[in-house]
Amino acid sequence: MTNPWLDPAHGQRFPEGATEANPSRAEQIEVLVTLAGAHRVSDPDAMDLLPPRRILDAGCGRGFVAERLLAIHPQATLVGFDVSPEAAEEAQRRLGGRARIVCASFEEDWPGALKEKDFDLALCVQAIHHVPHVLKRLTFQRFHDVLRPGGLYLQSDPVALGDPAVFPCVKALWNRLRSLHGFPPLPENYLQGDAEEELERRGDLLAGLDKQLLWLKEAGFANVDCFWKHGNRAIFGGFRLP
Ligand SMILES: C[S@@+](CC[C@H](N)C(=O)[O-])C[C@H]1O[C@@H](n2cnc3c(N)ncnc32)[C@H](O)[C@@H]1O
Repeated sequence: MTNPWLDPAHGQRFPEGATEANPSRAEQIEVLVTLAGAHRVSDPDAMDLLPPRRILDAGCGRGFVAERLLAIHPQATLVGFDVSPEAAEEAQRRLGGRARIVCASFEEDWPGALKEKDFDLALCVQAIHHVPHVLKRLTFQRFHDVLRPGGLYLQSDPVALGDPAVFPCVKALWNRLRSLHGFPPLPENYLQGDAEEELERRGDLLAGLDKQLLWLKEAGFANVDCFWKHGNRAIFGGFRLP
């Protein structure tokens, strides 16, 4: 399947449609920038909040999330990458001298700038669900390897529900929240299983949250958890052990 993000027109449509497709995107970005300072120390009961100095933004797109992070953390510098040359160029223009943005893909060996192994924070926002599961697992390993000890990986993504047996129950609960609290309709791709052919047909290769948490642990991450979830949108990650 050709990656639809290589079509500049597809990428240009993203900013205007981002909130429509993902109504809680602004909240997700606030959660991400708040968690961005978390740093694991040797004592597992203690958690320092240290402003990140070196950030990796994988699938950074046009640099919207990176811009917010750099504004909040004035001491930070950022390395970002995206498969779309247009998006990478726009991100570089937007972020200026504190960022170095390269055109690169999850699907290839990462260039040197992405392998510096001293990142305090590795971030992947709404990007890795575009690649096949086997590549997600390889990329989780890469994120782990480029973080310095104690560093944090954070992912914000839509996730698949997985088990069709729970769909009716989820629908009923969601519709209750909808009628009582004005929730939006269930996102169209919420009730996707993990059948890769079907997901690939739609262009979104969603994996279940439970699977991804397991893959993060297998990649060596500790304190793996889901930090925020609303419908099929989740923010999760883990720490590289100090
Ligand atoms: C939904 S956008 C999110 C962009 C940005 N993270 C944000 O939240 O504003 C998904 C991004 O993933 C990028 N992407 C898709 N497939 C990729 C791949 N194989 N390697 C690197 N980036 C990819 C797209 O070009 C696009 O910029």
